[in-house]
Amino acid sequence: MADQIPESTISEIRSTADIVDIVSEVVLLKRAGKNFQGLCPFHSEKTPSFTVSPDKQVFYCFGCGAGGNVFTFLMQHEGLSFPEAVRTLGRRYGIVVEDRQLSPEERARMAERDGIFDVHQQAAAFFRRMLLESPEGRTARAYLEKRGMRSETIERFSLGYAPPEWDALAKYFAGRRVPTTYLETAGLIIPRKSGSGFYDRFRDRIIFPITGVSSRILGFGGRVMDDAMPKYLNSPESPVFNKRRSLYGLEAARGRCRETGTAYVVEGYFDVLALAQAGVTNALATLGTALTAGHVKTLKGHVSDIVLVFDSDQAGIRAALKSVEVFRKENMDARILVLPEGHDPDSFIRKFGAEAFGAAARNARSMMDFLMEETIRKHGLSVEGKLRIISEMQGPLGAISDRMARSLYIRNLAEKTGVDEAMIAERIAPTNPPGGGRRGPAAAGGGGPAGEACLTGRHIRIERKIITMMLQFPDILPEVERRHTLELFEDEQLKSIGRRILTQYSTTGKYHVSDVIEALDDTEREMTVNLAIGGDVWDREGCLRLLAQFESGRKRQKDNLLQKIEAASRNNDQALLLKLLKEKQHRARKRQTIN
Ligand code: UTP
Ligand code: MN
Repeated sequence: MADQIPESTISEIRSTADIVDIVSEVVLLKRAGKNFQGLCPFHSEKTPSFTVSPDKQVFYCFGCGAGGNVFTFLMQHEGLSFPEAVRTLGRRYGIVVEDRQLSPEERARMAERDGIFDVHQQAAAFFRRMLLESPEGRTARAYLEKRGMRSETIERFSLGYAPPEWDALAKYFAGRRVPTTYLETAGLIIPRKSGSGFYDRFRDRIIFPITGVSSRILGFGGRVMDDAMPKYLNSPESPVFNKRRSLYGLEAARGRCRETGTAYVVEGYFDVLALAQAGVTNALATLGTALTAGHVKTLKGHVSDIVLVFDSDQAGIRAALKSVEVFRKENMDARILVLPEGHDPDSFIRKFGAEAFGAAARNARSMMDFLMEETIRKHGLSVEGKLRIISEMQGPLGAISDRMARSLYIRNLAEKTGVDEAMIAERIAPTNPPGGGRRGPAAAGGGGPAGEACLTGRHIRIERKIITMMLQFPDILPEVERRHTLELFEDEQLKSIGRRILTQYSTTGKYHVSDVIEALDDTEREMTVNLAIGGDVWDREGCLRLLAQFESGRKRQKDNLLQKIEAASRNNDQALLLKLLKEKQHRARKRQTIN
């Protein structure tokens, strides 16, 4: 599959694409020395352990062990196959990858996605023209004006209008010979129940194009201009549109989100428009669904401070509590801003202005405060109520991994409820935060039972170090080859990684970490980038010392083994003796293969 695309093309794309660019689109990266760091998109975490190296063009997460190069990043993050990842990057950097190098299914899948994006683009242009230029668009223009939308806002969000006829869009596309299948899959047209033909999904509605990070249109939202139902209609899910991950306004808000580090998450399209128009350009909306883990993942790729804005009515509070749960599960923090009774962000900012919104946002409560206050409000401070409050807060408080923060919140709850602090603390046993499990570098190395690790642990450590050296200081590769160092390796995985590096080096005469990545399996790849990404400094002398140290260690190990065998036979420890003899045999065989 992968070898259908010429290595020269892959290699050209690999050396042109910049992993920092590509990862930055979905992960908020900060410089940390030579590398960049951010919150890992592959597992939930609060402190950044996801590292990207611009020099080595690889990424590695010290929390979950995910790692690879620019292709494997796209494969893992977007769920693409290798050829798809190559083609996606090729297109982005203007390097042609021939279609016939994809499998038929991959080709069909790519063609469908491209087709839908293309149809969306054309439809958006059509809706836009209908809004700005057509006579039928007059009512829509009047509606937007009545809601206070200025033309620059209409422009900024590329708003449009779907005319009232049943088939205006279908006809428009028929004239342009666009395949109906793409239109149908995109949900822009719907087959008639009786007879043949199609009708338009969006009719007589204001249209909101929903854009993803790469400026491509994922789908549309449409609002009626009267009291008709449903008030809002969205494109259905499609191969390019996932409502549980998408946020309205992301493209327009992205820049400001990064500048300020903050994103406001609101509930409606018009909330985003009104806030942006008032200068609060870092607001995003969910698309008529409750906030999901997918949204949280998208958000954390852009900001570190997330403010969830809700109405203070029952439904608003319920939605806020649900969102808090989602954030907690994802191990992310958020602040909660509850607007005064009867206001959504749109009406609030039009009545009180941007400054008042900013002030309210600064006072947004932490998730934990909000949860505590709402729980207290729900149960009241009777004895029964207090018991329920403590019991409901047990989970959320126990999940706080920072001991200091946990004890401060416990004190806070004690003060608010008048229950003895020590009693609450006793009830709240710390639990491990979800998704906090570590699959660290140590676990990836040795393996085997602890006893065995004792025998070989030190040597595996040196072997890791040698591979690290090979990855970080390629000048030493000829020396490693000459000494047959790898043949003395005990860890098969490290040995196989080392061999790949040497092969790559001897066939191409040069070597770059990112080049060997695709040939490795998952475990080897993760181990390789883990070792490669460290900040060690190498010089030739140090390298030679390391190699010599390894060789003499191996020799000592051999002598040591003979001593142990003697001791075991003196003590008549048959089991140990057998094990040691096997070890000796194993090493002898290894030596034979070297000579
Ligand atoms: P609301 O009904 O709270 O309205 O819907 P709103 O945002 O204040 O809208 P305006 O100000 O009356 O225009 C909030 C969001 O819920 C989704 C939409 O995304 C909307 O922006 N929604 C609402 C739907 O998807 N379908 C509906 O029928 C209604
Ligand atoms: Mn509204």
